[in-house]
Amino acid sequence: MAILVTGGLGYIGSHTVVELIENGYKVIIVDNYINSNSNILDQLFKITGVNPLFYKIDVTQKDKLEKVFVEQKIDEVIHFAGLKSIGESVEDPLRYYYNNVVSTMVISSLCIKYKVKKVVFSSSATVYGNQESPLKEETSLKKTTNPYGETKVMSERILTDVSYAHPEFSITLLRYFNPIGAHKSGLIGEKIKSSTNNLVPYISKVAKKEKSKVEIFGKDYNTIDGTGVRDYIHVVDLAKGHVKAVQSFKLGITTYNLGTGKGTSVLELIGAFEKVNNVSIPYEFVQRRLGDIEVSYADSSKAERELGWKTELSIKDMVKDAWNFEKKRRTY
Ligand code: NAD
Ligand code: UFG
Repeated sequence: MAILVTGGLGYIGSHTVVELIENGYKVIIVDNYINSNSNILDQLFKITGVNPLFYKIDVTQKDKLEKVFVEQKIDEVIHFAGLKSIGESVEDPLRYYYNNVVSTMVISSLCIKYKVKKVVFSSSATVYGNQESPLKEETSLKKTTNPYGETKVMSERILTDVSYAHPEFSITLLRYFNPIGAHKSGLIGEKIKSSTNNLVPYISKVAKKEKSKVEIFGKDYNTIDGTGVRDYIHVVDLAKGHVKAVQSFKLGITTYNLGTGKGTSVLELIGAFEKVNNVSIPYEFVQRRLGDIEVSYADSSKAERELGWKTELSIKDMVKDAWNFEKKRRTY
């Protein structure tokens, strides 16, 4: 089986490529380096001993991407390529709509033209907007709080309509909760941009003394300790979820939450990072962040039932592997 992996040098894509190769798949990666670089290909080789085929192409450029469909025999596609910073999407919505929505349309049209009938799409828990957890796949989608989230909702709708028009297609929408951690080798992990303000990258900067303290956004949420609660999932568990998804395609459109089903507060996560890694993470409470929701965690029972997938790694593994990667981080 040959799988085209768009955005395969990114954080989740690279971990998924490792799992796919280890499960015997032939992988063809397309990435334009907008949030990655060629070193990641070397790291993938160090981990797997395999050099995946690679094309440096922007997936919004249909004529260029078509070359890959002509040159390679592709059985399935996993579409990770996308921009993912919520803050950037608020500042520059058109760039986000163009990159994330046009890429989904280009891939859909090439899959139709070249009869590649199996597609997995990287969606996000953000499509649920501000609704009560545990979140189930059948929950109707509400307006999200940012343009990034809307690009995911739109891409899901486009793919749903493609599946209605082409009933011979199997399209799987995977809604990720909060991926953190890194491969245990410490060779691949998450690229952190200066504009990044996700929690674990920020904790890592404080642990490395690049920042003096973590600002905790809000201390009066209705949660165990007043801080926001999220469903953190180890990126390797998430990557394994993709292998299960490509092994279990069903005709039509199918949606799965990929999360642990368990919420962890900001203070709990900081405490776990300090304890497991024996480092000190000073913090202070500041105002709530605009657009943040109080609590978000998955009901992942559908993925467990239908894909035979559930998470295996704990919060301890996540913070240990995140810090292991940070200490080794040289190239990105
Ligand atoms: P990432 O930025 O690390 O990886 C995305 C990859 O896609 C990068 O290597 C980037 O260079 C590439 N890319 C972006 N636009 C491209 C284009 N037009 N053409 C070719 N390559 C392009 O992000 P990630 O965390 O690995 O996320 C992967 C997918 O999962 C994204 O679609 C993201 O929206 C989604 N997602 C991520 C999270 C998260 O918290 N990381 C949560 C939910 C959903
Ligand atoms: N937080 C802080 N301080 C920080 C950063 C975050 O207190 O410096 C808090 C947030 O308020 C929230 C929690 O930590 O309660 C997690 O925040 P993140 O920014 O790490 O993650 P989000 O849940 O806001 O969003 C992430 C991704 C989105 C994705 C969503 C659901 O950034 O792309 O998970 O998958 F859509």
